Amino acid sequence: MRVAIDGPAAAGKSTVAKQIAKKLDYLYIDTGAMYRALTLIALRNQVNLEDEEALADLASQINISFRHKEDGQDVLIDGDDVSDDIRQSDVTNNVSIVAKHKLVREHMVEMQRKLADEANVVVDGRDIGTYVLPNAEVKIFLVASVEERAIRRHKENVDRGISSDLEQLKEEIERRDQIDSQREMAPLTKADDAIEIDTTSKSIEEVKESILTIIQDHSSFKGV
Ligand code: CDP
Ligand code: CDP
Repeated sequence: MRVAIDGPAAAGKSTVAKQIAKKLDYLYIDTGAMYRALTLIALRNQVNLEDEEALADLASQINISFRHKEDGQDVLIDGDDVSDDIRQSDVTNNVSIVAKHKLVREHMVEMQRKLADEANVVVDGRDIGTYVLPNAEVKIFLVASVEERAIRRHKENVDRGISSDLEQLKEEIERRDQIDSQREMAPLTKADDAIEIDTTSKSIEEVKESILTIIQDHSSFKGV
């Protein structure tokens, strides 16, 4: 069983993907974390983010892995835990530029498909249902208003004691969504056979239950 969960920033993908994976004992694959990890290393090494070849080279040199834990996973680069570093704002605000390059995506998609071959999986990202796993058994596309998504990220920052400006966050989310939706290769878009869920006024629990029902319906239909 492959469950693909796509959608724009802060639609609630990773929160529900983690919980569903835990509940069903599936492997959770956070593809955004992989693009973030590459961006972190590119920034640390002062690689020009428009230099596709240099980024692809870097992608082929670094070893990104996940360490699974009770409530999700840690992200490692060459064995170092970078889970917190990849969520920093300089990474967030540059990751879409790194992720738009074809050579970079080819490399990442190959790793993602290999990981997804190993088990039952819940994979979240932008192009999972359309490009990475076009034959996924269940495809979900989560959306929410940009205002609500900015409020969610603002709340996360406040809870972590990080200074945060709601209007600026909204602009950053809009800019990232725009680059993700307009890039040439595998842009953010809903697969024709994906089920769309608007999470704007839904709780995490409600979204999770809806997706679990969709997975169950698929499994009963197939007799598995
Ligand atoms: O959690 P959040 O929505 O902030 O972002 P993410 O899922 O960690 O993804 C970070 C960025 O990686 C996205 O804005 C995309 O530019 C890129 N990404 C992508 O291009 N394709 C994917 N399958 C996943 C992420
Ligand atoms: O992975 P993605 O960027 O799509 O979003 P996320 O990181 O899972 O969710 C962003 C924030 O929204 C988290 O702090 C969630 O707790 C919150 N959230 C929510 O308030 N209501 C939902 N239905 C889903 C997520």
